[in-house]
Order: sequence, then C-alpha cells, then structure tokens
Amino acid sequence: MIAANYVTFFGFQLAPFAKELGDSDLWLPPSKQEIVDGLCDAAESRECCLVTGDPGLGKTCILRAVRHRLSPTAYRLTYCHNATLGKRDFYRQICQALGLSPSATAAGVFYAISSHVQDLGKERVHPVFLLDEAHLLLPETLDHLHILLNYEWDARALLSLVLIGLPELVDRLALRRNRSLLSRIHRRFVIGPLTHDDTADYLRTRLRLAGDGRELFSDEAVTLVHDHAGGALRDIDRLATGGLREAARRKQKIVDGATLQRLLDAEVRS
Ligand SMILES: Nc1ncnc2c1ncn2[C@@H]1O[C@H](COP(=O)(O)OP(=O)(O)OP(=O)(O)O)[C@@H](O)[C@H]1O
Ligand SMILES: [Mg+2]
Repeated sequence: MIAANYVTFFGFQLAPFAKELGDSDLWLPPSKQEIVDGLCDAAESRECCLVTGDPGLGKTCILRAVRHRLSPTAYRLTYCHNATLGKRDFYRQICQALGLSPSATAAGVFYAISSHVQDLGKERVHPVFLLDEAHLLLPETLDHLHILLNYEWDARALLSLVLIGLPELVDRLALRRNRSLLSRIHRRFVIGPLTHDDTADYLRTRLRLAGDGRELFSDEAVTLVHDHAGGALRDIDRLATGGLREAARRKQKIVDGATLQRLLDAEVRS
C-alpha cells in the first residue's frame, strides 16, 4: 500500500489515526479501563450487561479490549453485529459465528445454539455473546432473546449476553414487552465523551504508536479538535488526520491552531 503524503512527510510508520489498531494497542484511560474491568468481571460472574453510548465514542473498541483480556480457554466470545436480521436469520448468524452448521428451521437453529451452550458449560468454557448495534434488533428478535438465557429451568447462567448500542437501546429495553430481558440484565455501562485532557492524551498516545513521540499538535489545536469533535473518538480521528494532512501540505512540522481552524472553515463551506 502506498503511504499517504502526510505519513511520509511526518515520517510515521503508519497512519496514526486509522481504525486499524491492534487489540493490545488500544488506548484505555481510567474511564475506559473501568468499563473493560466491569465487563470482564461480569463475564466472570456469568452476568448479562448493557453498554450504550453515542456513535464513535469507542463502544466496539471496548469490546475488543475485553476480547484481549479474557482468556480464550475459559471464555468463548461470539461477536454479532448484523442486528437487522429477522429472528431465524439472527440465530443462523449466531450459529455460523459458533461454527455450527445452521439448520433449516427456526426451532432447529435455536436448538443447535442451546445445545452448544450447554456443551460448553460441561467443558467449563463460559460463552459470552456480544451483540453490537443492538439498538437495531428487530422487535421479534429482541422479544425472543431472554429465552436464550434460560437453561435448566432458568436455574443456571450458562451464557452471558452483552448488548451494545446507541442510547436509544435503553428506551427500547424499557418498553413493557422487553421487561423479561431487561430484568435479566445485571449491569449497565454508559460510555461518555472524552474530557479535554483525555483528548490530549489520546492524540499523544496514537502519535507515539505511529512512531512519533513529539507534541505535533499545539495546545490551541488540541482544544479545537476536542471542542469540534465533542469528545467523540471517531471525529477526533478525522480532525486529527485532516490537521496533519493540511500541515504537511503547507510543509509545517506542527499542527497549530491556525491550521486546524482552516480545516474547520473548509468543512463548514463544503
Ligand atoms: N480505546 C480506543 N483506543 C484507540 N482508538 C479508539 C478507541 N476507542 C475508539 N477509538 C477510535 O475511534 C474509532 C471509533 O470507535 P468505535 O468504532 O469503537 O466507536 P463506536 O462507539 O462503536 O461507534 P458506533 O456507534 O458508530 O459503532 C475507532 O475506529 C478508533 O480509531
Ligand atoms: Mg461500534
């Protein structure tokens, strides 16, 4: 792959704010570490969780950090993110993720998953289903989910379900028809926007990972990135990349406030 001009100009080893980032390199300030710890602790206690937050705040990256932390011999993590499927196709997707051959009927698919979860229980492997974008689950799928949590007359917790989605997921679960599922969710985590200091720390961390330990963003530029991104990581990535690109175009080795402001003005015009 040919490196972008700004990557060559600054001498980075990789694009610092690209989404390709190893699980072990994820940035975990105390606020995020606390959620990762809580989710790992919940898996250990065989509990179900809800994780909500606005777009781009780092929900899916938190799941990747959890995957990195949990031992693959003790936990079997299954990640599903196509939540827009009808009930039968949704369970077929879980079957595929589990490496089971999906049966033709809805009952067959459900039976295959239940038996698999029970077999894992016998092997002392705890399954954790991570359902990302869960605010998009169709009503019929959401209605049915709590049944997946019933094992041995609802006396044993063989499966931990983690529902992840936008804040409106909370409103959906609060509906009366979803109360059976809601009552089985033991812990709730809300991912909030970054603080100003978090943003500065995030920019430094990702630049360092790209091979540059210098302060490439001036204080004023950090503040502009933070304020305009509203503390959301995906927007920070976009603005930081734009700032580096603009500085490289002008052969400036620092992204200062004026560079960032030009970028923001251009965004408003386009
Ligand atoms: N802990 C982290 N460490 C490093 N980068 C992160 C981290 N969290 C988020 N990011 C950056 O922010 C981007 C968006 O994060 P992520 O995809 O996790 O957000 P999200 O909350 O799942 O968004 P959506 O609701 O749109 O799915 C990532 O691609 C990554 O570049
Ligand atoms: Mg996501």
